[in-house]
Amino acid sequence: MTEPLLSIRDLTKTFGGVHAVDGVSLDVRPRETVALIGPNGAGKTTFYNMISGRMMPTSGSIHYDGDEITGLPPHRISRLGISRSFQITNIFQELSVRQNVEVALTAYHGKALAMLRLASRDREIIDEAYGLLERLGLEALAEQRAGVLSYGDKRLLEIAIVLATRPHLVLLDEPTAGMTPEETRHVTHLIRRLADSGDYTFLVTEHDMSVVFGLADRILVMHRGQRLAEGTPEEIRNDPEVKRAYLGEEEEEAAS
Ligand SMILES: Nc1ncnc2c1ncn2[C@@H]1O[C@H](COP(=O)(O)OP(=O)(O)OP(=O)(O)O)[C@@H](O)[C@H]1O
Ligand SMILES: [Mg+2]
Repeated sequence: MTEPLLSIRDLTKTFGGVHAVDGVSLDVRPRETVALIGPNGAGKTTFYNMISGRMMPTSGSIHYDGDEITGLPPHRISRLGISRSFQITNIFQELSVRQNVEVALTAYHGKALAMLRLASRDREIIDEAYGLLERLGLEALAEQRAGVLSYGDKRLLEIAIVLATRPHLVLLDEPTAGMTPEETRHVTHLIRRLADSGDYTFLVTEHDMSVVFGLADRILVMHRGQRLAEGTPEEIRNDPEVKRAYLGEEEEEAAS
């Protein structure tokens, strides 16, 4: 059995009296795609914030590639090969698609941002940026100003920027949120292709069940901060507790 790349034990985050994440454990093996699902407020983003170093856990531990990373600052965690996307797009609207990726690569390679114009003539960075754009199906849009991209393409550019830090573990927070069904299918296909390349291990939060079942090797279901269930898509689909939690929420909403 392969050693887990990410190993989380009893992770907890409380805000005042709210248990946003409450004693959750999870192992993620290299090259696996694990989906983190659960209703709004289940604690998914908080879980990510602790893995990526943006929030200090109240208790519990996070090990990555055999080393404890609990409470390390975001830049240290990013250097170790963990990179995340945000629920909100985070790109330079005025720069071209290609330049956005080059800025990310330049930052990764430790060159000053002021060197961007020079870096743009740096063959290695040009090739790497282009390679990433190709992987996200954005190569035809390379010279467009990022601000004019469709919402779906902006989210893809954001993933290219995330991949520019050469991560092994990629945390995607609702990669298809706000997309049309067609954009959703396209993005799901591209993430599937990245996962199948064997270059990355993915943790994905997502509300769209067609995306979750199309992508995940394994699913962790969170509910009110706690781990409700974990298993293969097939096991989760048929889990009575999961059905009850989701149906329960819908019934509560319908009643209110
Ligand atoms: N910085 C914060 N301060 C106080 N409470 C917070 C903070 N961040 C999250 N929470 C609370 O923690 C709980 C979990 O929130 P979180 O954003 O992690 O859920 P989520 O599963 O990502 O939800 P969504 O599906 O809506 O993105 C919620 O009750 C939320 O109000
Ligand atoms: Mg969230």
